[in-house]
Amino acid sequence: MPNVMLLRRINRAARRLPFFLLLVTAAPFILEAVIHVWRSQVPRPTKDLDAPFFTTCQEPDVTAERENAVLVMLARNSERQKAKRTIRSIEAHFNKWFEYPVLFLNDQPWDARFIAELNKTAGGRGIFEVIPKEQWTFPDWIDQDAAKESIIAQGHAGAPHAGKEGYHHMCRFYSGCKGGLVNLLIIKSRKFYQLEALRKYKWYWRLEPDVDFTCAVTYDPFVQMAKHKKVYGYTIALWEVGKSCPGLFHATTAWKTLKGLPSSSLWSAMMEASWMPFPFRSLLSWLPHRDASGDVWSLCHFWSNFEIADMDFFRSRAYQDYFEYLDRKGGFYQERWGDAAVHSLAIGMLADPQQVHHFEDIGYRHAKFYQCPANALGGQLPNSLSLAKNKPWSPEIAGGIGCRCECDGKKGSNFQPYCLDRLKQPNSPKKGRL
Ligand SMILES: *[C@@H]1O[C@H](CO)[C@@H](O)[C@H](O)[C@H]1NC(C)=O
Repeated sequence: MPNVMLLRRINRAARRLPFFLLLVTAAPFILEAVIHVWRSQVPRPTKDLDAPFFTTCQEPDVTAERENAVLVMLARNSERQKAKRTIRSIEAHFNKWFEYPVLFLNDQPWDARFIAELNKTAGGRGIFEVIPKEQWTFPDWIDQDAAKESIIAQGHAGAPHAGKEGYHHMCRFYSGCKGGLVNLLIIKSRKFYQLEALRKYKWYWRLEPDVDFTCAVTYDPFVQMAKHKKVYGYTIALWEVGKSCPGLFHATTAWKTLKGLPSSSLWSAMMEASWMPFPFRSLLSWLPHRDASGDVWSLCHFWSNFEIADMDFFRSRAYQDYFEYLDRKGGFYQERWGDAAVHSLAIGMLADPQQVHHFEDIGYRHAKFYQCPANALGGQLPNSLSLAKNKPWSPEIAGGIGCRCECDGKKGSNFQPYCLDRLKQPNSPKKGRL
């Protein structure tokens, strides 16, 4: 009898053996994956490292010294009404007090009507420049026919704006380039005398046609950025359209590795660690948006149609080198690499996370995306003469940080809470403070 019992036991154990062996074999891999993901976590700081500069209305200090700054808008003659909408809005909510010049850039000669009307809207502070033809075209080393074919194919594939040649030029222009915004800033040649207008500034606030500002900005953001040692300010964070840039992240990480750059907490916040165990993880690296170890870029980035930035960041050798590297890969044309993603990844690699500022107090709308905070309780300066024309219609709310906002702060403000929250993680102790 005991023999039978023993046999049965052995039998049962033998049946469990493969499972047991599997568990023993898999355990280190599972453990390794857990450790990998755990190590990629971005710790939240205990205090807010990027608080709003102000959380109530300020009496605009119009006598204070200004920074060396300019508002910049790239526009076409056909966008006159949309451009006016933006300029009217920023004048009413900010620039009527601080009176920064407004530089308009076009790849075509300006219509007299655009100049007259927009200069008037900009309080007579408009500057109108034309981007020289040779700077708004394909780089000379690229095969233009192939690039044009690729652009048409991308259009059929349906990535937003990817079928428009001008859009590719624009993205490359804003990203940096030879003949792009940044090089316009650093080009010494007399030929580009007209662009001296941009070169002499340190700070810029990028504007886009068809934008609404919905809160009063009663302080000078350039001065505050300088004071707090910020280099890059944004309002909205969202996902990039993956199919517009399947090769961008590969090129970026290749350059990052080439330069031996460490990963900052902001960089890690842009990534999602893979749960695939080693060594299988690195096999994923050939998939789009993955780095060599198989981790994936979340596609979260700062939406660059609003940008308040220190142009010296983009003029730096490191950024120029990065741009040059990307440009040589041809992805501004073979794919539709956007300046928003390029700027964001560069900030993630080259800036200190604390040099990045989220302007969560600025109400901003472009296309269907917007953020708009609630008005600060007791912080609206009801008797201010400077603010008399800025009439809020949303109530003051405890915890509100807005000044005379014209929107309903109760509505979720930023459109993509996941991205915004992730990108704020290195600086913000609270989760989902949106
Ligand atoms: C814009 O208006 C101001 C004030 O009226 C004027 O001095 C300036 O020359 C104008 N600029 C352009 C480019 O027309």
